[in-house]
Amino acid sequence: MKIVAIDGPAGSGKGTIASILAKKLNLVNIDTGATYRCVALACLKNNLSLNNQDEIIKLSSEIDIKIDLNNKVYLNGEDVTDEIRSKEVTNIVSPISSIVEVRKNMVDLQRKMASNYDVVMEGRDITTVVFPNAQYKFYLDASLEERVKRRIKQNKEKGIDMSYDEVLENIKARDYNDSHKEVGSLTRTDDQIYIDSTNMTIEEVAHEFIKVIEGDNNES
Ligand code: DC
Repeated sequence: MKIVAIDGPAGSGKGTIASILAKKLNLVNIDTGATYRCVALACLKNNLSLNNQDEIIKLSSEIDIKIDLNNKVYLNGEDVTDEIRSKEVTNIVSPISSIVEVRKNMVDLQRKMASNYDVVMEGRDITTVVFPNAQYKFYLDASLEERVKRRIKQNKEKGIDMSYDEVLENIKARDYNDSHKEVGSLTRTDDQIYIDSTNMTIEEVAHEFIKVIEGDNNES
């Protein structure tokens, strides 16, 4: 099975690129951040605060998370595709994703989701933990300022109301937290293909990815 793994910080364009690659290369698109967002939403629904670590871990092993081929996300059978993007979820998802046992449960689930398919999978630890042996490993980056701008634009399209400062502080906090985890930290490695998309259009970024993947196919 073919695996295209993409890691990178919040707002770097991983989601957009993964969805373009999925269409162009006929891959199943798995947004691993959505799995952590489902755990965060389940915590909110069950009134669990970040201090209730044991209960959060238990909950993460009990909930049913599904992502369908159209990227709709279901938590215990309910369509939560939009709800998992809310400000409330976004504010607590990073610390929840730092809990080692929660990560273990989500990594198991993500590997299961990818079995039997050619996939493009994006997140923070796909190239390092989930599929370290993936055929294609990318690290997609962009400057902080550019990522904040992109996230604000995306939020507007989704009707999420967050000020510039709110988005900036959230992304800064997530950048720090996502790269200082005990397990599954966002890391750059020598075997990733590094793409800085700060001054590139989406089309240009997609072209770079496709060039690598198809170039490889043409050689074999
Ligand atoms: O990609 P995203 O913003 O939807 O991810 C939400 C959070 O989940 C993010 O702050 C970090 C975490 N995450 C993770 O720890 N590992 C992944 N593979 C994907 C996301």
